[in-house]
Amino acid sequence: MIPVLPADIIPPKGSAQPFVQAKHPRNFLVTGATGFLGAFIVAQLIDRVLTLDGVQPDSTALDPLKVTCLARAKTNDAALARVITNLQHHSCWNPQYEPYLVGIAGDISRAQWGLADEDWTSLATSVDAIVHNGAVVHFLAPYHKIAPTNVDGTIWALRLAVAGNKLKPVHYVSSGTVLFSPHQFVTLLSRGEIVREDDPLDPATTVLCTSYGETKWVAEKRCAQAAALGVPVTVVRAAWISGSSKTGTVTDSSSLLFHLIKACIEIGAVPETDEKVGLVAMTPVDYVAELVAALTLMDAAQIKDMPQLRTEPAGTWARKWNLAVLSWDQWCARNVYAIRTQGRGHPLAPLRNQLLGWMQRYLLSIPDWSTMQTNMVMRAWREQLLAANVVEVPTVLATPADELMPLYLADLVVKGFLPAPKAKGTQNLRAKL
Ligand SMILES: NC(=O)c1ccc[n+]([C@@H]2O[C@H](COP(=O)([O-])OP(=O)(O)OC[C@H]3O[C@@H](n4cnc5c(N)ncnc54)[C@H](OP(=O)(O)O)[C@@H]3O)[C@@H](O)[C@H]2O)c1
Repeated sequence: MIPVLPADIIPPKGSAQPFVQAKHPRNFLVTGATGFLGAFIVAQLIDRVLTLDGVQPDSTALDPLKVTCLARAKTNDAALARVITNLQHHSCWNPQYEPYLVGIAGDISRAQWGLADEDWTSLATSVDAIVHNGAVVHFLAPYHKIAPTNVDGTIWALRLAVAGNKLKPVHYVSSGTVLFSPHQFVTLLSRGEIVREDDPLDPATTVLCTSYGETKWVAEKRCAQAAALGVPVTVVRAAWISGSSKTGTVTDSSSLLFHLIKACIEIGAVPETDEKVGLVAMTPVDYVAELVAALTLMDAAQIKDMPQLRTEPAGTWARKWNLAVLSWDQWCARNVYAIRTQGRGHPLAPLRNQLLGWMQRYLLSIPDWSTMQTNMVMRAWREQLLAANVVEVPTVLATPADELMPLYLADLVVKGFLPAPKAKGTQNLRAKL
């Protein structure tokens, strides 16, 4: 699997190198706005631009703000409706956003994202920055099923960046799963070393633990190749994206993280933490969105040293359900037994084979999450953004993981995904958690 960048992805002749972004980018294209992170990115982007406009002496002279969201739908109106419904669903909708939002029906797994030539050209000539966040996020899907979306879709984002005789930055949302190789994840991270987005990835001979991770790896490689040719690309390699730090909204109970928690509660035990190996990063979705929005508004040439998020073990949630601590082997055996008796109803049933494979190597710390490293990274970012005169910089995460987990768990209990904890003495769910 040696990724090769198509030869047509080169900056248009005469474009400035290094790339210089328009002082006030106004016209954005976002993919994946019908998904979890995408909802928060759209909200953050609009909020930030409006805040920046508020401090500009000449903001009325600026072009109107426009955030075009490409989404799967039959019509552009239906694409927009899906995006709005998604923001509402994730509690980040503000009716003030509506005048700035435009929907465009497309499909990132298809050639030219499924757009007609005139729509493609119109975007290519008008858009100031592309936020490519859309992807199939699935840990069990085979490579060939998701590569058209995750790999080819990213190549089309790079093509759009150089099309229309207008060079524009691509902000690519990648994933920490590109590091899930024995060398990078276990050797470097467990030694406490930070892996940065611009560090070379492991060679193509490395086996990653999921095909999803492989598609993101190949897409990142192609982004790096395009960047080497002068296409302005930034990579935001998100760690495990948890719920909103403000509302506790999590991603519809579909994330592996919460399925693992549910499994622990159902079998009454967590696996023992190996602090030397197990590190599970947790970054609230609103913080990832803040970073993506801040990046999108700053000059890509100023962006360097994007650190990879990772965390230190911490956390106490398991005590709320009085869970026992078992060795990994015992914990797995209990789950395998539960899967056998419960069948598909068990939260980890689809992952039965993975339980005995890569999950053992990589998820030994599932009882524990922390936001310490996230904070470290946010601080580093703030300094860079402040140095680059970005007026609105992301806030530093104020809430430690131990305070965030109750928010998320309460959301899942209210949604009926998790049973209420057994703690006595209070009817208040948050207090119990
Ligand atoms: N969740 C995490 O913990 C995590 C961690 C690290 C990185 N990331 C990255 O963050 C990004 C967003 O993830 P998420 O958790 O927000 O995922 P999500 O909720 O599943 O959203 C995925 C988005 O991609 C869109 N999409 C998928 N296939 C498409 C296609 N063929 N054409 C157009 N749009 C398509 C989906 O549209 P539909 O609504 O039409 O399906 C949806 O809007 C992804 O790039 C992911 O790799 C996520």
